[in-house]
Amino acid sequence: MFIQDFGLDQVWITDLFSLSDTIAVPSRRRRRKEVITLTPQLYAYLLANVPEPPILRQLRQETSTMPGSQMQVSPDQAQLLAMLVQILGAQRCIELGVYTGYSSLAVALVLPESGRLVACERDGKSLQIAKKYYELAGVSHKMDVRHGLAADALKSLISNGEACSYDFAFVDAEKRMYKEYFELLLQLVRVGGLIVIDNVLWHGKVADPLVNDPKTVSIRNFNRNIMEDKRVSISMVPVGDGMTICRKR
Ligand SMILES: C[S@@+](CC[C@H](N)C(=O)[O-])C[C@H]1O[C@@H](n2cnc3c(N)ncnc32)[C@H](O)[C@@H]1O
Repeated sequence: MFIQDFGLDQVWITDLFSLSDTIAVPSRRRRRKEVITLTPQLYAYLLANVPEPPILRQLRQETSTMPGSQMQVSPDQAQLLAMLVQILGAQRCIELGVYTGYSSLAVALVLPESGRLVACERDGKSLQIAKKYYELAGVSHKMDVRHGLAADALKSLISNGEACSYDFAFVDAEKRMYKEYFELLLQLVRVGGLIVIDNVLWHGKVADPLVNDPKTVSIRNFNRNIMEDKRVSISMVPVGDGMTICRKR
C-alpha cells in the first residue's frame, strides 16, 4: 500500500499499480502510483547533470574504443558509488571486477589520503590501463591491485586476519559467482558497512520468465535470496544495469 501523494506537475509515464494500491488522498490530488521511464532524452539530461571528473572522462573515452567498453559503469553509477563512500566516511574498500578502472578510480578519488582500495581483476591487459589512470590521477598510493581471481583475493584477505575491517565493497565481476562473493564479503565488511552489487537487473532479463540462461537464473536467485537475508538490509536501485546496496546488520 502506498500513502505518498505526489504533486500534480509530475510527469508520469509508466503505470505500475492499480488505484486500489493507493490510499485515499484529497480527491483533486489523488494519483496513481507510477514510476518514471528513463527515455534516451531524459537519460541524456541526467548525464548532463553529472559532474564527471576530467580524469574519469578521459578514461571513459580511451576505453570506448576497446572490446568490452559497455562493461564500464556509467557516470551516474560511479557518482552514486563515490557518494556512498563519502557518506560512509569509508577508509577501506574492495572492488571485484576492475576492467580498465572506471568505478575503482571514482572510488579512489574520494577516498582520504590514508584510504585503501583492494582492486581485484583477472585480466592483466585491462588492469594495465587501470594502473596507468591510477598514476595519472595521483591515487596509486591508495590502490592495492590484486591480479587474479576475485574469490581467491577475498579468501586471502580473510586468512590475513582482515575480517570485519572493510567499510565498502563493490561487486562487478563474474555474475555466477555473486553468491560466493557475497558470503566472503559479508565476512570482510564491518557491521554498518556496504556491499554494492552491480547488474542486478541484468538488462531486464531477470523480470522475463521466458529467459532462463545460467547468468540470468543465477542473478534472479541471488536477488531473491538477498531480499530474504536477515544479515543485511537492502535497496535495489534502478541505476545503470541495476545496483543493490546491502548494509550489513
Ligand atoms: C563489468 S566489468 C567491470 C567494470 C568496471 N567495474 C568498470 O567500471 O570499468 C567485469 C570485470 O570483471 C572481470 N572478472 C570477471 N570474472 C572475474 C573473476 N572471477 N575474478 C576477477 N575478475 C573477474 C572481467 O575481466 C572484467 O574486467
